[in-house]
Amino acid sequence: MLSELENLAAPPPAADLEEEGLAAWEASFEHDKQIWGELLAENVDRLERGSYSLHWTDTTNSHWGTKVAPSSRGLTYNDINRSKAYGTIPDRAEYRNLSPRGSVRAEHRDRMPELEAYTLLDKYEMWADNVSTLYEEAKSRQWNSTTDIPWSELEPVSEDLEKAACQFSTFLSEVEFVAGDFPSRWIYKIPADFFEVKNFLVTQMMDEARHMEVFRKRALAGGGGLLHASPAFEWSMKAILEAPTHTMGTYLLNLLGEGFVLSVFRAGEFLARTHVDREIFRRCMQDEARHVAYGTMELKSYLENHPDPVVALQNMHRFADLGELVLFTSFVDPCLLEPIAVLMGGSLAQIDEGFEGISFLWSTLREEYLQRCDRANFDRRTRCKIPEFLPGMS
Ligand SMILES: [Fe+2]
Ligand SMILES: [Fe+2]
Repeated sequence: MLSELENLAAPPPAADLEEEGLAAWEASFEHDKQIWGELLAENVDRLERGSYSLHWTDTTNSHWGTKVAPSSRGLTYNDINRSKAYGTIPDRAEYRNLSPRGSVRAEHRDRMPELEAYTLLDKYEMWADNVSTLYEEAKSRQWNSTTDIPWSELEPVSEDLEKAACQFSTFLSEVEFVAGDFPSRWIYKIPADFFEVKNFLVTQMMDEARHMEVFRKRALAGGGGLLHASPAFEWSMKAILEAPTHTMGTYLLNLLGEGFVLSVFRAGEFLARTHVDREIFRRCMQDEARHVAYGTMELKSYLENHPDPVVALQNMHRFADLGELVLFTSFVDPCLLEPIAVLMGGSLAQIDEGFEGISFLWSTLREEYLQRCDRANFDRRTRCKIPEFLPGMS
């Protein structure tokens, strides 16, 4: 049985893949040799002649003379985007190369490669009007889980509570970085015209790396360690990672999944049994709030700007009908609900009281999710697959 599994999982030998990839890469350059070969010859020839081009000093087609000024926060993207030349974000990417928005691009276009990786060519596929502001906020609120958490002050708690804290940390360690993996699947598909989104998604990846790190450290800092991974969590993460479009995955990850986590972190005062835990939740909550805000506004922008809004809405509902159910599978998994109930109740003996607390929290979680959908003009109130009451607690 084991050897069958091994065979199933075995990818082709790395050396074969390497050689295949190398051959394809060489062939692509051979194909375009006329263009880059000419560039190479021209440049070498110029150097050999001891001559200069200086074509880059020609400002004819540039926006030379644009001067930007900082605002009270410093020099933000919003500040530099005030000029029409630099701040006009096209509805569809004008170039599938790396040329920066605002540079002299057109006259070099024919000599640049078309980058096939860039496939999110329409602004509505990933844009959110708050993205530049969120990027600024993300940069100014970075923190370091190594030094900003007062680890040495972590107070010992009962074994019940420590187990619950460790299980909750295991859940978070397991799921946090999908929110880093998911943007990575899309960032490189976003063309240079929408660099603000690329920049913001990079901050989300850094945030999630820190979250994965802080919860892993938390599990070990109290003398317990990681407990049970859960199949239910992994089906949810698969649904997010393999979502067919960026907007669908962003909705499931940021708006729904992280929205729920944000609401749970907000309840940190009931969950945190030490001031160290409270500090961890507080810091993660700030980060998650940005991701949720992006997801909400991204969906709104998608639904408002899609060329066929009726079909866009239908497809989003169809995706949400299944997506909500798959994520709900995780929300009711004992590896998540029970440690939360123990932390809320204060001990394993008071798990029933904890469940009553969760039941009360549940309607807030669901309502906050539906409100975020409302803000995105995505009315899930009559279709929501997440039940109004926690099963067994109506
Ligand atoms: Fe996170
Ligand atoms: Fe997040």
